[in-house]
Amino acid sequence: MKRHLKSILAVLAFTLWAIQIAWVSFESIAADADKGVEGVKPVTEIDRQIDDNAQRSLAEGRRIFRFDTFGDEAFWGDAIQLHQSIQGERFGGVGPGVGPGAALDAGLKVDVDALPPELVESLRNGQVDLTDPANTLALLKANAVVGVTGIFDSSGNLRSMGIQCALCHSTVDDSFAPGIGHRLDGWANRDLNVGAIINLSSDLSAVAKLLGISEGAVRAVLAAWGPGKFDAALLLDGKGFRPDGKTAATLIPPAFGLAGVNLHTWTGWGSVPHWNAFVANLEMHGKGTFFDPRLKDSTQFPVAARAGFDNVRSDPDLISAKLPDLHFYQLAIPAPKPPEGSFDQNAALRGKQVFESKAKCATCHVPPTFTEPGWNMHTAEEIGIDDFQASRSPDKRYRTSPLKGLWTHSKGGFYHDGRFATLRDVVDHYNNHFGLSLSEQEQMDLTEYLKSL
Ligand code: HEC
Ligand code: HEC
Repeated sequence: MKRHLKSILAVLAFTLWAIQIAWVSFESIAADADKGVEGVKPVTEIDRQIDDNAQRSLAEGRRIFRFDTFGDEAFWGDAIQLHQSIQGERFGGVGPGVGPGAALDAGLKVDVDALPPELVESLRNGQVDLTDPANTLALLKANAVVGVTGIFDSSGNLRSMGIQCALCHSTVDDSFAPGIGHRLDGWANRDLNVGAIINLSSDLSAVAKLLGISEGAVRAVLAAWGPGKFDAALLLDGKGFRPDGKTAATLIPPAFGLAGVNLHTWTGWGSVPHWNAFVANLEMHGKGTFFDPRLKDSTQFPVAARAGFDNVRSDPDLISAKLPDLHFYQLAIPAPKPPEGSFDQNAALRGKQVFESKAKCATCHVPPTFTEPGWNMHTAEEIGIDDFQASRSPDKRYRTSPLKGLWTHSKGGFYHDGRFATLRDVVDHYNNHFGLSLSEQEQMDLTEYLKSL
């Protein structure tokens, strides 16, 4: 009997213990849910300061990304006088001017949220003459041309202009009309014909002088770029064309999904803040500070070495103080999810298996960033292409591209120069280069998976 009681008590104790464990874990699950996805509510003053700082930095970074010219109007307006060709003779500039239609054709985008309601109404009713530069000026006054700022004097005349990061790394959702809609920050503008836009300028002598070639030769280089391309290395090495005669320009990559990625640009020039400072100073021609002694190499970078791009100092410095917030904002931009129905879900699931096993893609494109944690660089030989573009960069390699949001930039093709028109062509290339022996089905599945990222 005593023994029996003992075992009943033991069972009871065990049951109570089990209930207690279950209760505690239930409580902690409930508490976790209460804390939200992060699992940690800000409790201390320091926690709250961090949260406030993140919010402030995001807002300021967004403003810089969209609207800050870093003082680059000294180049786009004062030096190459691009604003004069945009407004045209009738407004004191040169030539016929650029109407909104031609601006949209060149791939410039209009932010519908910045338009005054009357202008939206007139556009909707087809009452805006899309050939009249006066209407381009109205869009610029409303600050509605994505990535372009018109600088007007007190009597409303356009006296200069500047450009922003958003020019190349934002587009719009076309919700109002093609080229007119809500902003999509971080998306590559693959419609934008940067070369044609710069070629609108009637005076490119500043660029010709820098490169040490004729203005005609500069114009030929720019005309060859085409939509969605820009050549960030032109002003370093002066190479306008590849050995095969094609343009040396590269595709504009997206600026989303970059958090956790080590090296940036197609050829891995450096970190995001390195490249932001590089672009703001050397490409946009803003006024700041930039230091990169690799550019002193006069064999690889004759133009940059001559111009002293390895050590740029401006007074005042309109860039350096903006780098922290700009960096923070860029890292916060997520890669957008593909629209429902844009890929075959079952095939994509099978393709994921192929990506991670037989095709060995994930050895370099490591999920979830889809690039290697670490030194994410490869020689041209490793990936089976020529080394022209790699040889124009300090490490002479290609960076493993992050693959999220590929569906947003299929226009212009894939790889740095768009040499593969479709994702299927990319898969074919790897199948041949690595001798993967993928079946037709596996290649199709892999392609659907790429579309699903
Ligand atoms: C005239 C078009 C243009 C403008 C303006 C521009 N970029 Fe870029 N951006 C490019 C191109 C082209 C590349 C690819 C360069 C390369 O790989 O050689 C690039 C690359 C990048 C990358 C690397 C992306 C990756 O996949 O690693 C980042 C980050 C970036 N730009 C940020 C910016 C920021 C920030 C600004 C504003 C300060 C800016 N860009 C202004 C065209 C532009
Ligand atoms: C040895 C490392 C490596 C392997 C393995 C690899 N890739 Fe890549 N991948 C790269 C590099 C490097 C680039 C950049 C090429 C360039 O800049 O032109 C790239 C580019 C790409 C791009 C183009 C991205 C863009 O924005 O245009 C796609 C798509 C891609 N890879 C898919 C795959 C698939 C699918 C596989 C497996 C069949 C694979 N990769 C295997 C290194 C690799």
